[in-house]
Amino acid sequence: MPHFSDTHVESLPFAELAERFGTPLYVYSRAALTQHFLAFQQALSHRPHQICYAVKANANIAVLNVLARLGAGFDIVSRGELERVLAAGGMPEKVVFSGVGKLDHEIERALAVGIGCFNVESAFELTQLNSIATGMQKTANIAIRINPDIDAQTHPYISTGLKENKFGIPWREAFALYEKASRMPNINTVGLACHIGSQLTQLAPFIETFDQMYTYYLALKNAGILLKHIDLGGGLGVCYQQEIPPTPQAYVAALLARMTDPSVEILISPGRAIAANAGVLLTRVIHLKQVADKNFAVVDAAMNDLIRPALYQIEHAIVPVNTQSNAPKRRYDIVGPICETGDFLGKNRDLALEPGDLLTIRAAGAYGFSMSSHYNSRPSAAEIMVDQAQAYVVRDRETLASLFAGEHCLP
Ligand code: LLP
Repeated sequence: MPHFSDTHVESLPFAELAERFGTPLYVYSRAALTQHFLAFQQALSHRPHQICYAVKANANIAVLNVLARLGAGFDIVSRGELERVLAAGGMPEKVVFSGVGKLDHEIERALAVGIGCFNVESAFELTQLNSIATGMQKTANIAIRINPDIDAQTHPYISTGLKENKFGIPWREAFALYEKASRMPNINTVGLACHIGSQLTQLAPFIETFDQMYTYYLALKNAGILLKHIDLGGGLGVCYQQEIPPTPQAYVAALLARMTDPSVEILISPGRAIAANAGVLLTRVIHLKQVADKNFAVVDAAMNDLIRPALYQIEHAIVPVNTQSNAPKRRYDIVGPICETGDFLGKNRDLALEPGDLLTIRAAGAYGFSMSSHYNSRPSAAEIMVDQAQAYVVRDRETLASLFAGEHCLP
C-alpha cells in the first residue's frame, strides 16, 4: 500500500490533519522515510558502506532521528546542520562535512565532537584544517572532493560537477594535494569524494563519475596513498511528474558491478531520494479567481513555503484531497498569496476545485521546508510526522510574535 494516497497518509485522512494542525502543513511519513533509507541500505548490505543522508534536504530533527535509529550517517554543510544531527542522536563518527566555505568555528566544533570525515574542497581548506587540528591536538580525517567535469544533465542550478562550478578540485591538483596532505601530521587521508549534481534521472553520469573516481583511487593506491572509502555524493533523482529515475537498487548495482576491489568502503549521501517522497505539503484553497482567459486557485501555501517551482521551474504533482468534487474541471494556476508573479506552486493543472478544498503538493519532503523563508512576513508552516495511526507535531507552527522576536527598534 502506498504511504500517501489522494486522501490519506498512512491511515490518517488529510482532512482530519488539516483540521487538527491547520494549513499550510508539511506532512511526513515515517514508514516512507524508513522504506527509502532501507532501499539503499539493503542494496549495499554486502559491501562495506556508509549512507550519509544529506541533511540539507530535510533537516527536521525528527527526520534525522528516524534515520539515525536506522543506522544512517549524515552529510552536513554547516555547524547548524551538525548541531541538528547531534540533537537528533546522530553519531558524530558517521558525519561527513562537505561545503566550499567552512568557517573556523565550524571546523573546531566538528573536530571537538570527532566527525568521521571532512570533504576538503580547496588547498586553502586543507591548510586551514591542518592548522586548526594542530592547535587542538586532533587529527582530521579527510577526503578530497574531486570536480570530475561531468555533466549531470540536470537543472543548471543543481549541477555541481562541471569544471566551471565552484565545487571540488580538478584531479591533477587533487593528486598533489593528497601528497601534501599525507605529509601533514594532523591530517589523515581516508577518502576520495565527489558530488556531480542533484535530481539525476540517468545512470550514465553516475557511472562515468564512478569510473573516474575508481581510476583515481587506484592511482593513489599505486602512489602509496591507500584510502578507506570512495564517496560518490548524492544526486539520485525522484519522479516529480514524468521522470523515471533509476531505483536505488539499480543505481547501487551499477556502481558495485564496476568495483573490482570489494574492500573499499562506498559512501553515498542521498538526500532527495530518501526525503522527497516521504512528504507532502498540505494546503487549502482560499478562493478561485478568473482573469481574462486564466483561472487561478489561490491557496494558503506560497513560494516562501515551497520555492522549488519558482526557482527551478519544477512541476510538483498537485492532488485534490476531495476526490468526489462536483465542481467543474478547469485549468488552473495554483498560486500563493505572495506579491510576486513568480509565486506559483503549479501551472496549467486541470482540476475540479472549490474554495476551502484541500490540495497536497507531492514529493515535497526534500528541499521543501528546508528552503522555506519568511518572505512577506509569513510564519513558517508546521511540520508533522505520521507514524502508523499517530500524528506528531515535529515543528510547531511559527507564531506571529516569534516572526520578529529578534528584531530591535532604535532607542
Ligand atoms: N552531497 C552533497 C555534497 C550535496 O551538495 C548534495 C546536494 C547532496 C549530497 C544531496 O543531493 P540529493 O541526493 O538530494 O540530490 N535545492 C535543490 C537541490 C540542491 C542540492 C544541493 N546539494 C532542489 O530543490 O532541487
